[in-house]
Amino acid sequence: MPSPSRNGSTKAGDWRTYERVLLPSIRNLHRFDVYVKHGGYKALRAVLTHTKKWAPGNVIEAVKASGLRGRGGAGFPTGLKWSFMPPVDPGTPRYIACNGDESEPGTFKDRQLMEYNPHLIFEGILIAAWAMQIDATYLYIRGEYADWIRHMEYELGKLYTEGYVGQRIMGTDFSSEIIIHKGAGAYICGEETSLLESVEGKRAYPRIKPPFPAQKGLWGRPTTVNNVETLACAPLIINRGAEWFAGIGPEKHPGPVLYGMSGHVERPGVYEYPTGMLITDLIEEVAGGMRGGKKLKAIVPGGASVPVLRADMIDGVTMDTESLREAGSMMGTAGMLVMDEDTDMVKFLRRVTRFYHHESCGQCTPCREGTGWIENLVTRIDEGEGTLRDLDILLELCDQMEGRTVCALADAAAWPVRNTIQRFREEFEAKCRQSIYAMA
Ligand SMILES: Cc1cc2nc3c(=O)[nH]c(=O)nc-3n(C[C@H](O)[C@H](O)[C@H](O)COP(=O)(O)O)c2cc1C
Ligand code: SF4
Repeated sequence: MPSPSRNGSTKAGDWRTYERVLLPSIRNLHRFDVYVKHGGYKALRAVLTHTKKWAPGNVIEAVKASGLRGRGGAGFPTGLKWSFMPPVDPGTPRYIACNGDESEPGTFKDRQLMEYNPHLIFEGILIAAWAMQIDATYLYIRGEYADWIRHMEYELGKLYTEGYVGQRIMGTDFSSEIIIHKGAGAYICGEETSLLESVEGKRAYPRIKPPFPAQKGLWGRPTTVNNVETLACAPLIINRGAEWFAGIGPEKHPGPVLYGMSGHVERPGVYEYPTGMLITDLIEEVAGGMRGGKKLKAIVPGGASVPVLRADMIDGVTMDTESLREAGSMMGTAGMLVMDEDTDMVKFLRRVTRFYHHESCGQCTPCREGTGWIENLVTRIDEGEGTLRDLDILLELCDQMEGRTVCALADAAAWPVRNTIQRFREEFEAKCRQSIYAMA
């Protein structure tokens, strides 16, 4: 949040006293005038007027020092990503693609930022644009978010009228455009290189990497792809300092983060807290506990593609890269799906595999065929027609998919299969044993 705060450094342990900075509780903050009244665009003005202190390289160093990691799923260090952009070559345009495609099941946090604090996103984009000397940013918003697209377009219009974007921003020599691009309606459009294809007006087929977008991005020009929430952190880092940001949550994965809580909890929703929250605190305290007092069975900590954890695997586990890796999962988008004791894990996996089969772009054989096969096999098991041999075939299919395709969608489809079968094998075996082919 651009306004002054009581927060010093906040460790996840102090989460009860945490003051929200991404989604502060300020009435009508989505409006340009209200945002400015509460200190909005102060960080942008600072970097564009104190151009020595905030030379582009210094902004990148500050983002590196803050420890900010991408909030789009992979958790890549943001400052490092910005430093991959090649030196400015006059006459060669440079771009940002800001990723607001948000189609991962269980993930709905960028939408909250767009609705309640859109100018934090615009300010973050413009600070990143200064740091990387960007000519234009394409803000790619999920096509189904029609209301939020209209809302963002309206607020962006205000920004142009006020001279805070476009030519000679705030009367300085710096010019940079923002263009809102409506998403093409598929999960794959959120993969960074297919997003670039989509902006270029083509079918959203992921590109083979290398070359990475920093070398060859939009129209073959240097491009950085960042998630909406990632860029919204930039004004906070400039206003309050990299040290402040680095002091929130765990050292290797710090900062404020939007947790999306869904499933069998009493109070589903988006909650802003430091990284490194105990999973048990998020479920019991933040989201109001299990719905109807049921027992917890499993969680998926960061969007549908990260490995599922059994209830007995989450004791003492915190929401950050290191702790989740040790526990056998990943932070992903911090969108946590919570499942109670009545959940049928075969049905859960059936739903997930259906999604990935539907969303595969079909470019690579292991993904196009593999997602179809795994959906068919899990469906067969769920419908009482599976055999124990099918479980081994499913795991073999995962081996054939992981790490063998153009993009990570195939991995994202294989991991839930592998982990759900391994971690809930008795449920899968029970369905196979009851099946009409139990002797097979
Ligand atoms: C199939 C697929 C879908 C993805 N969808 C999104 C998305 O909707 N939003 C997003 O920010 N990142 C998404 N990602 C991750 C992006 O490829 C990329 O890592 C991210 O936008 C980088 O931003 P960050 O470094 O700020 O996290 C997706 C990746 C894959 C493989
Ligand atoms: S892995 Fe799947 S989604 Fe990704 S490019 Fe290949 S076919 Fe398309």
